[in-house]
Amino acid sequence: MTDKPILTTTGGAPVPSNDTSKTAGPRGPVLLEDYQLIEKLAHQNRERIPERVVHAKGWGAQGIFKVTHDISKYSCAKIFSKVGNSCDVLSRWSTVAGESGAADTERDVRGFSLKFYTEDGNWDMVGNNTPIFFVRDAYKFPDFIRTQKRHPKTNLRSPEAMFDFWAAQPESVHQVTILMSDRGIPTNPMHMNGYGSHTFSMWNADGERFWVKFHFKTQQGHKHYTNAEAEALIGKTRESYQEDLFNAIDRGDFPKWTMFIQVMPEAEAGQQSYNPFDLTKVWPHEDYPLIEVGEVEMNKNPENYFQMIENAAYSPSNVVPGIGYSPDKMLQARVWSYADAHRYRLGTHYEALPANAPHAANVQHYHKDGPMRFFTNDFGNADAYYEPNQYGGPVADPSVMEPPLKIDADAFRYPQEVTDEDFVQARELYLNVLEEDEKERMYENYAAAMGPCSKDVKERWYAVLERVHPDYAAGVRAANDRLDTDVNAVPITDDTQIEAAE
Ligand code: NDP
Ligand code: HEM
Repeated sequence: MTDKPILTTTGGAPVPSNDTSKTAGPRGPVLLEDYQLIEKLAHQNRERIPERVVHAKGWGAQGIFKVTHDISKYSCAKIFSKVGNSCDVLSRWSTVAGESGAADTERDVRGFSLKFYTEDGNWDMVGNNTPIFFVRDAYKFPDFIRTQKRHPKTNLRSPEAMFDFWAAQPESVHQVTILMSDRGIPTNPMHMNGYGSHTFSMWNADGERFWVKFHFKTQQGHKHYTNAEAEALIGKTRESYQEDLFNAIDRGDFPKWTMFIQVMPEAEAGQQSYNPFDLTKVWPHEDYPLIEVGEVEMNKNPENYFQMIENAAYSPSNVVPGIGYSPDKMLQARVWSYADAHRYRLGTHYEALPANAPHAANVQHYHKDGPMRFFTNDFGNADAYYEPNQYGGPVADPSVMEPPLKIDADAFRYPQEVTDEDFVQARELYLNVLEEDEKERMYENYAAAMGPCSKDVKERWYAVLERVHPDYAAGVRAANDRLDTDVNAVPITDDTQIEAAE
């Protein structure tokens, strides 16, 4: 008898051997009745789930959110009702384009997801480390992602496709500028900000609505790698984010972020030169200053990465009373898209998995069976399985109704014309935020990224940069001209693109 725990079957029966197949004679063959062998191999075959269609490579942690400032005049969400309130949080940071085995320090936008397990239910902030995005209509999201993923013929990433697309969607220049700046390669998730990016809404106990932007500022300070530093690091380890994050939390250096909101009274939308629901625009701090709300501290490494991080299902649809959506067209599409992805990636009852089940709220709904219905929500009364019923089953609560939003407009596919307004904020960033040395590095980063592109695509992108500022276009052109294109190991040539199109 051993003092170690006994290995069992999935049915709980003790297993006699975990080394030797049951065979007819010492040299085989194997008997079909060795069910434990079949079970072991069959389970291995099912150990993978589809990776996320975007943001596949990620790193996460568990932690806590504490409210440090009173914003109850903007939101009636219970979490904000009192300074000192707190709730559990699950974070997941990610790169957008790379597969689940991609190197951590590639130049890319980083996903920044937080799940707040509040007493009103789960509130998910599914943002990025940038306050804006490349496109502003959901029709263009799958196309944009195509250009970030692999070319169908070469099975390689295609800079030609990326810059071809961006040049045809000039409103992307604001986000591309951030991507090519120092912030394009943070040293790890602890050294970057998070932004809700979209405009969301809040409403207070009096039913007043405010438009809101969410900001999470790193308390560790911003740190970035240059292209050369990142390349050298990838040569040594592809997993530096996971190593940095896991080790920091393991030794008690818990990363923290300060949460802020920007607030616009409902009636003020429309008074700006820009559309406040356009995801390619920020709200300037001078007009809408940051209002401090609280602090996020990530202080626990999950016991099982797959269980808590791979199984995490973040969705902008997860809001709680007092926090709402906005008319932002991209946000509207995202509100639908994520739960659909989760049902495909994780299964019907993904919300009941430990990563996704609320910690501080009861789940009481009438959705029923299906694969992996491993939980009960029968409210202690098996007769209450439809609604309305005479058995005291759960009923809706009109008091959490969002105030009505006036929409008086013609249904139409409104053209997304690119105007001078689309270059104003990128110009602000270029002229007033980026230091001279960062601009120089940005030009070089562009050259490294655009090196393999055709002359035609390069010229089209310079024309976009010209609309931001002539110096910007000139800087990027000069860096490209300096670059010896031979250094690009696998150029995607014009021929490849033309062949692929045939
Ligand atoms: P501010 O001077 O008040 O703010 C500048 C902002 O730029 C800060 O939030 C700063 O973040 C951020 N920043 C600094 N370096 C970079 C970089 N390389 N990439 C991206 N962001 C950076 O100015 P405004 O609010 O008037 O905005 C001016 C421009 O700054 C905008 O057009 C926009 O491009 C950019 N920006 C604005 C934000 C906003 O919400 N208003 C947010 C982020 C960028 P930090 O404080 O963390 O250093
Ligand atoms: C992940 C769709 C825009 C941030 C995903 C996933 C889908 C998706 C299907 C995978 C979800 C999963 O399998 O769990 C879309 C669509 C968009 C859009 C349709 C536009 C219409 C954006 C924008 C942001 C963003 C604008 C940031 C502001 C993220 C993040 C993840 C993600 C952070 C990873 C979530 C995680 O950590 O699990 N997106 N997305 N997406 N998206 Fe989007």
